[in-house]
Amino acid sequence: MTTLPRIFPNTSRVLSRTRCLSWLSSSCRSYSKKIVKENDIVLLKHRNNPSAPIVTGKLRSGRKTTLSATSNWRDGIENDHIIGKELREVVTSRKGVHYRILEPTLAEYTDCSPRIVTPIYSQDASLIVSLLDLHPTPPRPNDTNEDRLEIFEAGTGHGALTLHLARAIHAANPPAPIPVPIEPTEVNNTQLEQNLAIDKTWREARRAVIHTLDINAAHSQHAAQVVKNFRKGLYFPNVDFHTGTIEEYISRRMAEPEDPFLDHAILDLPSTHEYFEIVSKAMKTNGTLIGFCPSITQINSCVLLTKQKNLPLFLEKVIEIGGAVGGREWDVRLVTPRALKNESGEKKPAVDAVGEVEDRKVSETSNNRGEMVCRPKVGGRVSGGGFVGLWRRITPFSQ
Ligand SMILES: C[S@@+](CC[C@H](N)C(=O)[O-])C[C@H]1O[C@@H](n2cnc3c(N)ncnc32)[C@H](O)[C@@H]1O
Repeated sequence: MTTLPRIFPNTSRVLSRTRCLSWLSSSCRSYSKKIVKENDIVLLKHRNNPSAPIVTGKLRSGRKTTLSATSNWRDGIENDHIIGKELREVVTSRKGVHYRILEPTLAEYTDCSPRIVTPIYSQDASLIVSLLDLHPTPPRPNDTNEDRLEIFEAGTGHGALTLHLARAIHAANPPAPIPVPIEPTEVNNTQLEQNLAIDKTWREARRAVIHTLDINAAHSQHAAQVVKNFRKGLYFPNVDFHTGTIEEYISRRMAEPEDPFLDHAILDLPSTHEYFEIVSKAMKTNGTLIGFCPSITQINSCVLLTKQKNLPLFLEKVIEIGGAVGGREWDVRLVTPRALKNESGEKKPAVDAVGEVEDRKVSETSNNRGEMVCRPKVGGRVSGGGFVGLWRRITPFSQ
């Protein structure tokens, strides 16, 4: 049973009206120091070889953690052998393999926790967060600035990037309130209502929020659990999880009497380009839109669509990431080859070293004749897996 129903029995009526009790189940327990306690999550690192470490689930007494479930090598460890040990101590599995007990870093946690969808790996997530250039300031007494930093992410997936983003904005929010505990046997709806009201007030006063959306409810729930289980929900209150389509979410927010509200948006889902128009409409001028695509041709689709629809987005950079720290920058532009320009009898424009003319005003027809430049920038480093495009929202949409 989760902590929440234990604390608040007979609450389904109230809870069904309230989706945002996020922190209640996560912030009631004290932090472990060096001794591993029941319900902690630990990292088990093979003592003698560099194989991938294992992130356990919440350690429950009397249960075991599976270390390997392959048909020719099944191994596990009793949780009671881990609970009560100090961090850095060594435990031995049923098959006699030694593991060191550690507290997982955020990167280890997102990379190694059990998943149902492929996450953005931690070094790539860190790079994406750094591209947003976030500088959250802590709340100050008498601060009259009511601006809220809002970041939109789709899809949520494993919650790996969500957790990196939530950590990055954490400093901006005041400490989340700790709810008054209610005895499991006690029927105390008044206290529950008070806790809910405090939670609601705190949420409305947040100075920075990650809105993360996934079309798949199972992915969203799994990701919420991933975020909630890290360091006992430390970053969970910074995130609002949404399930549904991007169109539904943005249209609902834009229907409220609200100007563009997003400071940043990150898209990691199939057919990224299809969401550029609606997402960019919700973005504040100067905000960044990041598309994470597995291939450079998908970045191209975004570039072409931006031109075709004349979206107020400027492509600042394209970076190849994965397997390398820092990433390699690519040159991605829509150009008209010189031969085509001459053919049309236009005045010869300035040409770059490889005989291409950058096409700043491209109509749908001319797109068919233009070509994409896609190449690593000279002097770049190493290769990798995915591609990140960073666009900046430049001017307002014309009315
Ligand atoms: C590769 S995963 C994202 C991984 C995530 N960035 C992370 O770091 O863990 C892609 C996610 O996009 C979701 N998705 C696919 N199509 C979608 C859509 N049209 N709208 C919202 N989410 C979508 C999928 O359900 C999946 O969970």
